Amino acid sequence: MGFLTYNLKWRNEKLSSEESSTGACYGDLEAVVKRDTPDAPAQVYCEYVAARLAALLGINVAVGVLVPHATGLMHASLSISQVANPLEIVDFENLKEFISHHPVEAARLAVFDLWIGNADRVGNVLASMGKTVDDVVAGIDNGACLLNTESTKEESLKLLRNENEPNYHLFGQVHPWLFCEELIERIESLPDLSINDACIFNDTVGSVMLPEQAEIAEILKWRRDKSRLRKLVKDVLIPE
Ligand SMILES: Nc1ncnc2c1ncn2[C@@H]1O[C@H](COP(=O)(O)OP(=O)(O)OP(=O)(O)O)[C@@H](O)[C@H]1O
Ligand SMILES: [Mg+2]
Repeated sequence: MGFLTYNLKWRNEKLSSEESSTGACYGDLEAVVKRDTPDAPAQVYCEYVAARLAALLGINVAVGVLVPHATGLMHASLSISQVANPLEIVDFENLKEFISHHPVEAARLAVFDLWIGNADRVGNVLASMGKTVDDVVAGIDNGACLLNTESTKEESLKLLRNENEPNYHLFGQVHPWLFCEELIERIESLPDLSINDACIFNDTVGSVMLPEQAEIAEILKWRRDKSRLRKLVKDVLIPE
């Protein structure tokens, strides 16, 4: 899988020779910026944490960073460059084509989504469709998961505490077990501490306070354990 590259918007003059011996420049990167809203009150936390979890598992997603702002913390998803590789947004029109080009990545994204409760993947993947030198697949919007799975945090927690939810994935029941199992094993072997590190910060993130962060970490461990994720994947992703 090709690595992701991002859009440089502006590159300033080189730093002075006293400041940099390697020709470093300041630059501005382009990003898609989001904040918490009444409809998505935990969006910043969920985008950020989902990207950290994906990185632990070797799943390609756009790099996301937290940005302080007078009106509250924001999340900036660095905008993926298409200079080297033209990419397409995966939607219902090209979903079949995407899965046939990238069956391994499709299965991995679907398993990951079930673990974190993300039901909003179609429309939120950028992928090469066989027309490029490098194969590229990247999740670009992982915001509708964890505490942002449903319209309120309470409803989201209720859904995540149900081992039979989410009970569908928009990619469909089309994935070979072999491709799913590979990611299930990676999730099952994630140490508790790594999950804690990805989910719990020593401060409020947007609207999400520490106890809620700790609860998300506990729920992700619970969903990982006792073959709960394994069973959910069999029910939801594997052809009957
Ligand atoms: N990291 C990124 N790199 C390139 N394009 C991006 C990136 N993040 C978002 N986009 C573009 O911006 C659009 C909107 O971003 P995003 O999906 O995060 O917002 P949204 O409000 O959740 O939209 P939707 O509800 O349609 O999913 C995406 O469909 C995509 O075209
Ligand atoms: Mg989106």
